[in-house]
Amino acid sequence: MVKLWICLLVQLSTLDTIGGYYYELRSECIHSSRDLSDMVFLHIRIFNKIRYVWFNSTVGKFQGYTQYGIYNAESFNNDTATLETVRAVLNDICKYNVRNFYPTTDDPSVEPEVEVKSVKQSDGSHPAMLMCSAYSFFPKFIKVTWLRNGREVQGGVTSTEEMADGDWYYQVHSYLEYMPESGEEISCVVEHASFKKPMSFKWDPSPPASDKSKIAIGASGLVLGIVLSAAGFIYYKKKSSGPYWGEDLPSRSSKNVLFNHKDI
Ligand SMILES: *[C@@H]1O[C@H](CO)[C@@H](O)[C@H](O)[C@H]1NC(C)=O
Repeated sequence: MVKLWICLLVQLSTLDTIGGYYYELRSECIHSSRDLSDMVFLHIRIFNKIRYVWFNSTVGKFQGYTQYGIYNAESFNNDTATLETVRAVLNDICKYNVRNFYPTTDDPSVEPEVEVKSVKQSDGSHPAMLMCSAYSFFPKFIKVTWLRNGREVQGGVTSTEEMADGDWYYQVHSYLEYMPESGEEISCVVEHASFKKPMSFKWDPSPPASDKSKIAIGASGLVLGIVLSAAGFIYYKKKSSGPYWGEDLPSRSSKNVLFNHKDI
């Protein structure tokens, strides 16, 4: 079977140089858990932008997407030797290589910084929205889910792709739309290679400390402003009703008109 693949590759890459056709064979071993239990092997064949057939180890056989792909999938699936070989890749190549690879490298995984915050509050008829953001993690693969009173939330969840920060780190954002109920507990659960187990981050509806300090600073500023204006006003009033101080004469008379004219 391997020979067949190489033949196809050579033959079609010749086509590629002659006619500008594009043929791609892609084999991927994908996993996010350290124990390799979620390892998936994909073998994908693409011709001119169209994925026409693939093997997915979770399905265990070839699946076709075009007429040509369906025919190919059927003939690959008919061939038990081919199926056996390709089914063995998951263990014999993917897991085998990754297992040997880990001890030879420093573990480069970097924990995400996770933040849960409110994006939109409910007005009673429209749902509220929470955002769970994971920042600066490596490697790319991550899983973000939501728990409501300990149960995984199925509906109302949308998530961005893992976005590259351009410095080997990634970020991802997951949104939960829900109708709030009193006394409920909502948390965001993040699974990543850097964590030994899934980590849960609880949604805290009270405003974050930074917001509290902003409010405190704003409030003290307001109080200080009022105190100073009041002091200024009192001083101004006292001075304007006081004795004659030379240069102040023109303003004194006008102030007297404004504020103290009953005293004259
Ligand atoms: C696959 O096997 C079935 C049953 O033996 C046969 O009818 C069919 O023609 C085969 N398909 C291909 C594409 O070889």
